Amino acid sequence: MAYNLLKGKRGIITGALDENSIAWKVAEKAVEEGATIVLTNAPIAMRMGEIRKLAEKTNAQIIPADATSTEELSQLFLQSQEILGGKIDFLLHSIGMSVNIRKNISYTESNYDYFLKGIDVSALSFHKMMSVARKLDAMNEWGSIVALTYMAAQRTYPFYTDMADIKAMLESIARSFGYHYGLEKKVRVNTVSQSPTKTTAGTGIKGFGDFFDYANAIAPLGNATAEDCANYCITLFSDLTKMVTMQNLFHDGGYSSTGVSMEVMTKLGVE
Ligand SMILES: NC(=O)c1ccc[n+]([C@@H]2O[C@H](COP(=O)([O-])OP(=O)(O)OC[C@H]3O[C@@H](n4cnc5c(N)ncnc54)[C@H](O)[C@@H]3O)[C@@H](O)[C@H]2O)c1
Repeated sequence: MAYNLLKGKRGIITGALDENSIAWKVAEKAVEEGATIVLTNAPIAMRMGEIRKLAEKTNAQIIPADATSTEELSQLFLQSQEILGGKIDFLLHSIGMSVNIRKNISYTESNYDYFLKGIDVSALSFHKMMSVARKLDAMNEWGSIVALTYMAAQRTYPFYTDMADIKAMLESIARSFGYHYGLEKKVRVNTVSQSPTKTTAGTGIKGFGDFFDYANAIAPLGNATAEDCANYCITLFSDLTKMVTMQNLFHDGGYSSTGVSMEVMTKLGVE
């Protein structure tokens, strides 16, 4: 069911790799809700070809851009405004990559070149995107920017390794940039802290399957799906949430507020 929440709005969606990607669902929902969008991803993701199916489905153009390059990001914002016919109303940052996780390196043994790469791709890219958009004055007043994060920024999950620190930085950038962008242009900036979700980035984490089941057994509502996350992002892009900014918003079926559930107690055999 569509509500026309984004009627007439223009958006940029990063990070749709395949149909499991959270960004893929956000793109579909945004268009269902009346927005016109541009899709972007790293040039290497483009070669996998899947994103073209989404572009066809959402009637969107694709602009390749490596999120670590301010030059490519500038082109992204310039071209998006041309294609969409005006300033941008919403932006989704849905980018995460840790080489240490990919190479199965434990947190205490982190390789620092890989660590820095992870910071650049997954956290600084958010700062770069907003900095470029601000310089080009590419966002409309009351525009909304959302980045996706995970609760390992607040609590320790051993297998999440360096991404925990990187997500903490991402959330901090949302607050810091959100202050300046809000004051100058009334642009709002938030992070959505999503449940474990079966995507390429998610399932790349060691032990993800067991952890997914654990989170599902803790959360009174169960894990939030990628589609649920997309719905929540749409509300944040809409005018209905126009006074929400500089927040880290948990979207996890109640997981973050639950100490332990009866289901887990029973599984452990506790009386
Ligand atoms: N899957 C989960 O369990 C989960 C939970 C909470 C938060 N998140 C976050 O959601 C976001 C989206 O991840 P996802 O789970 O949909 O996985 P995904 O693998 O589908 O998406 C990650 C995207 O990042 C893109 N990317 C990587 N390097 C890039 C670069 N240099 N420039 C531009 N794009 C680049 C990839 O091409 C890919 O499209 C990430 O920030 C992730 O940390 C995921």
